Amino acid sequence: MSESTKQSGDRNCQEPTPTCPQNAKKDEWETFFESHDAPPGFASKKLQMHEFAQGHLKNGTNVVLVTSGGTAVPLESRVVRFIDNFSSGKRGASSAEYFLAEGYAVIFLHRHKSLQPYERHLSHTKLIDVLDVQNKPNGDQTIVANQAMFPKLLSILKVYKDVRASNSLLLVEFVMLQEYLYLLQAAAEALSFAGTQTMFYLAAAVSDFYIPSKEMSEHKISSSNGPPIISLKVVPKMLTPLVHHWAPDAFVVSFKLETDRALLLEKARKALRDYNHEVVIANILEERNECVTIVTPDEHHKICITDSRGTRDIEELIIKELVTKHTVFIVEHGPE
Ligand code: PMT
Repeated sequence: MSESTKQSGDRNCQEPTPTCPQNAKKDEWETFFESHDAPPGFASKKLQMHEFAQGHLKNGTNVVLVTSGGTAVPLESRVVRFIDNFSSGKRGASSAEYFLAEGYAVIFLHRHKSLQPYERHLSHTKLIDVLDVQNKPNGDQTIVANQAMFPKLLSILKVYKDVRASNSLLLVEFVMLQEYLYLLQAAAEALSFAGTQTMFYLAAAVSDFYIPSKEMSEHKISSSNGPPIISLKVVPKMLTPLVHHWAPDAFVVSFKLETDRALLLEKARKALRDYNHEVVIANILEERNECVTIVTPDEHHKICITDSRGTRDIEELIIKELVTKHTVFIVEHGPE
């Protein structure tokens, strides 16, 4: 991005200044990383993301990081129990498919065992019932898929095979909160050099609370002492360093989830004011698969799947809008 086309210098905070109030919170996220070790396997996942991003961005392909699923918060260092949340990963998995259909390369940072692109379509089907044994003329037996049981299988399989062949989808797994936060930072660093060509689509349900490592019991908490009193700390918001330090030129989309409709819009607007990014997708827990509100600094509007005939997933409508907004963003702010 050229200096002349930059929208606002205050997104690119390097040092604390009066125009960079975000730096006031810098300590909290830095302290989090300083007091938690990188998770096992971190270095190789970081390298994978870096190579994937380099390969696609040098060919001029836009790259999006899609985060998906819930983060688990351990109660013990040698973890037996953890705090978890409701997220199925449907939003992220479905969105990744629509980004791929729009020609983006996708880093899919997802919770282990949450829904995955393409495979999610099989999640309501018992795979064992879709498969049949077929006798060959020579007496051998082979396994075939019974397409009548799952009519969409062929078309989904063909798209999935194309995506695999073009290497445009990178799957990266996490389970614990700390692992997610480390990988988010690594992904942001891998993508930062491409400036406006990259998008962050932060659909994961990230825990707001955790127990710092040094305050955690090492071994399984015993029930013989009665119920434990557990004190949780607030997880620093990683949107702050993402927008202002790790990837200051990228197009950033965050999510706002509420159960109280009366709070949703104001909280989404507040997020845009606090972090100075591009879009918030605001959703209510119970209706998240039917309707969302797209909020930008200039306007907001609600979209519902019921308003659009033939649309299979609300994510199809979300991604169409975001791709248009991202294209305009690149034109207005210049390529990398
Ligand atoms: O997976 P599904 O079942 O399909 O459900 C989809 C969804 C409801 C999880 C998804 O649509 C959604 O709303 N995801 C975000 C949920 C959430 O964490 O909301 P929040 O209001 O707590 O956080 C707002 C934003 O801050 C998020 O984009 C998050 O990435 C970011 N965040 C959160 C915590 C933290 N420590 N740092 C952050 O930057």
